[in-house]
Amino acid sequence: MALKQMIAAALSQAALAFVVLISIQACSKGTPDNKPAEAASQPAAKAPPEAAVTQLAIDASSFVCLEEMTKIRHFYVDNLLGDLDATIAVAESTEGGIYPPGSVVQLVPTEVMVKHPQGFNAATRDWEFFELDVSAEGSSIRNRGFVDVVNKFGGNCFGCHIKAEPQFDLICEQDHGCDPIPVTREMIADIQAADPRCIEEPEVTSAMNDE
Ligand code: HEC
Repeated sequence: MALKQMIAAALSQAALAFVVLISIQACSKGTPDNKPAEAASQPAAKAPPEAAVTQLAIDASSFVCLEEMTKIRHFYVDNLLGDLDATIAVAESTEGGIYPPGSVVQLVPTEVMVKHPQGFNAATRDWEFFELDVSAEGSSIRNRGFVDVVNKFGGNCFGCHIKAEPQFDLICEQDHGCDPIPVTREMIADIQAADPRCIEEPEVTSAMNDE
């Protein structure tokens, strides 16, 4: 018995020494002891592939009048990274799916969900929530963020949308498991049609018209 214990103790000490040795090596390997400034001048080809993940810059100009987006059933989608077909494919599926990065989803002019590249925010599955102010002049961002964005009725976007069944990627519709909103689809259609950003302003259209 005593011999067994001694052997066990000796083994665990050896194991500990080994772990310490490995960590020291790992440390000295991972920390170049001089010229940190040189890291920046290393050729880009040496950067790991993860560093190439596209960052999504979103500002008020990212948002457009609903009529300029693509309507899927009763809601609107877009893609800020040019991958509109992939966004439409998920939106059209009644079985759900993971929206691709760049996806923009809207039901009403003032509330938006935008999908960041994978790994951006695990809690919200990379969705960022926006509350906009909209007028004939365009959009301005009133509120944006991840788990803590609250709409003007006091409702937390994430708190409702996370209740959607997992295969629907936080998209609620009427039957994905979210708490309902007190707004009928008819009322929503009226709100969509009244998007003030869609009103044509002669000087803006002539400046933006390429034809
Ligand atoms: C009380 C719960 C609740 C809150 C709070 C809430 N939503 Fe929703 N949201 C819903 C429901 C339910 C629908 C689907 C309604 C329908 O299809 O008729 C919806 C629809 C949407 C849609 C269209 C896609 C979808 O999920 O069906 C977007 C985009 C959206 N909400 C964004 C937001 C944003 C942004 C906020 C916060 C500023 C927010 N929501 C706050 C429950 C909520």
